[in-house]
Amino acid sequence: MTIALLGTGLLGSAIATRLLGCGHTLTVWNRKPERCQPLVDLGAQQANSPALAAAQADWLITVLSDGPTTQSVLIDQVGDALRGRRVLQIGTIGPAESQQLADAVHALGGSYLEAPVLGSRPEALEGNLQLMAGGPDELMEEALPLLRQLSQKPVHLGPVGAAMTTKLALNQLIASLTHAFSLSLHLVQQGGVAVEPFMDLLRSSALYAPTFDKKLQRELSGDYSNPNFPTAHLRKDLDLFMAAAQQAGLNSEGLSGLAALLQRSSAAGLDELDYCALHQLTAGQTAAATPD
Ligand SMILES: NC(=O)c1ccc[n+]([C@@H]2O[C@H](COP(=O)([O-])OP(=O)(O)OC[C@H]3O[C@@H](n4cnc5c(N)ncnc54)[C@H](OP(=O)(O)O)[C@@H]3O)[C@@H](O)[C@H]2O)c1
Repeated sequence: MTIALLGTGLLGSAIATRLLGCGHTLTVWNRKPERCQPLVDLGAQQANSPALAAAQADWLITVLSDGPTTQSVLIDQVGDALRGRRVLQIGTIGPAESQQLADAVHALGGSYLEAPVLGSRPEALEGNLQLMAGGPDELMEEALPLLRQLSQKPVHLGPVGAAMTTKLALNQLIASLTHAFSLSLHLVQQGGVAVEPFMDLLRSSALYAPTFDKKLQRELSGDYSNPNFPTAHLRKDLDLFMAAAQQAGLNSEGLSGLAALLQRSSAAGLDELDYCALHQLTAGQTAAATPD
């Protein structure tokens, strides 16, 4: 299978590595071309433009930061080269943005399947992402051999929009659970209580979520370097969730404070760090843990 992948960032480069390992012929393109080099070293071809990458591809995979970027690269820059191409859109964008992309791809003669994922670089490298798909049944059938190399159990959730809606629902939980745990952890520490007994109680209660332990060491040490999923994307996804919730007529007022808190991450220099750097923001006026 000949595949082109646009966007070799944290997730895109891991997916590309996996696809090369599966034996595919892969062409990659990235705005900053130097980010393609590790993939070229693994056998990928590098294209100088999104349209050149797409030219020979059976599947065109996009793993770009957000909706406007994906629209610009896919519709404005690939453009007419979309004719006859099948697009697999993996980056997390809003359901309405995804529908607009699908319409624009169809108008240019291509077909479109949204395929957001839960999991990060390690899961992508192992082909063990949780992959949700939204789009026509026939395209899902055609995509399955490819999707099964990225995910042990790809799930087809319905038409375009269904998978992005589900992805936002899951990422709202990432944001909310991280925030809730962070505040409780700070309170325990500020109260002079040892962390381990608190964690023991939490672990044996119905309140426990595995993500708490996954992030505990980073939060205790204040080391948020080498992220798999950066804070800026968590903010984007929470904002997308709130927009979708508003459109659905839900009351998401409870999340407004968290969204406002995440707005401060740029000024605090946390955007490029692991998303649990949110813990630094919840420290408020007290001394937040910082790396040595
Ligand atoms: N990382 C994860 O664990 C994870 C998991 C699930 C979903 N996602 C989603 O997957 C998408 C990519 O995430 P990531 O973590 O790989 O992000 P990332 O490392 O920040 O990579 C973003 C990609 O978008 C490109 N890009 C940004 N602005 C651009 C522009 N104006 N024009 C052209 N290209 C542009 C970047 O190119 P440059 O290199 O040139 O900046 C890079 O290829 C996001 O929607 C994210 O929410 C990520």
